[in-house]
Amino acid sequence: MTIANGDFEFVSGLVQRESAISLPKGKEYLVEARLTPLARDTGLGSLPALVAELRQEASGELRRRVVDAMTTNETSWFRDRTPFEALGNGVLDRLVAARRGQGRVRVWSAGCSSGQEPYSIAMTVAPRLAAEGMTLDLVATDLSEEMVTRGKAGRYTDFEMKRGLSPQAREAHFSRVEDGWQISDELRAMVSFRSLNLAAPFPPLGTMDVVFLRNVLIYFDAETKAQVLERVGQLLAPDGYLFLGAAETTINVDERFTRTTVGGATVYRLDGKAAA
Ligand SMILES: C[S@@+](CC[C@H](N)C(=O)[O-])C[C@H]1O[C@@H](n2cnc3c(N)ncnc32)[C@H](O)[C@@H]1O
Repeated sequence: MTIANGDFEFVSGLVQRESAISLPKGKEYLVEARLTPLARDTGLGSLPALVAELRQEASGELRRRVVDAMTTNETSWFRDRTPFEALGNGVLDRLVAARRGQGRVRVWSAGCSSGQEPYSIAMTVAPRLAAEGMTLDLVATDLSEEMVTRGKAGRYTDFEMKRGLSPQAREAHFSRVEDGWQISDELRAMVSFRSLNLAAPFPPLGTMDVVFLRNVLIYFDAETKAQVLERVGQLLAPDGYLFLGAAETTINVDERFTRTTVGGATVYRLDGKAAA
């Protein structure tokens, strides 16, 4: 079904206000593809009926479901590999040395989708930290409540398991369940999932040693990208590390960050000299 111009403008305005996800003209197909199934699921039947309901809805539940449906949750285990290799080697070596006194390392996976990213981080750093007598404090957040629920559950389909996870990691950390694979209680206990909108002021999260903010900024306009990076810069430790997605950068967006490489991966730091 083709969406009417007025309905598209209403939906894209609402999604922009609630999540900063940018839906310029030309994205009508995406709104149609995502909201037609929602119209069916909610019993409203058609896209025009769903938008009509949305225009007068008071509770906010349908609005939340529409915004959730417009998020793109594409992810995989150890996505792009090199960031995780850099994290597990050079970055962790430096953080273990710098944080030994505090006994813990704090990591934030922002825009964590269904959990593959934070669980990949946990698999990468937890064994080494345990061997050093240190702990991992890992927070994972997403705007989508559906994704937060999925991350907490830690249950994945056969298809999802095939995307980036080695047979060894599967054997070590998952058990077979009726409809897929269940991640171990040990890994689940390491990740604290919660919902958080990156486009609004952050709730208190404390100082982070590492921030993974990967493949999220691409959905925002230039002004929102700058605002999000400004807030991330405020909570990143002065000697901390920011990881972005392969198509993202701080360059020409937030000049406080310096781009550098660790083990073939690009990382961003507040103090370029500390990276030496
Ligand atoms: C493409 S996924 C990336 C997942 C993971 N970081 C990765 O690189 O594999 C983008 C995620 O960002 C989330 N997202 C979009 N807008 C957001 C916002 N305003 N605040 C928080 N998360 C948001 C989406 O719900 C989605 O799960």
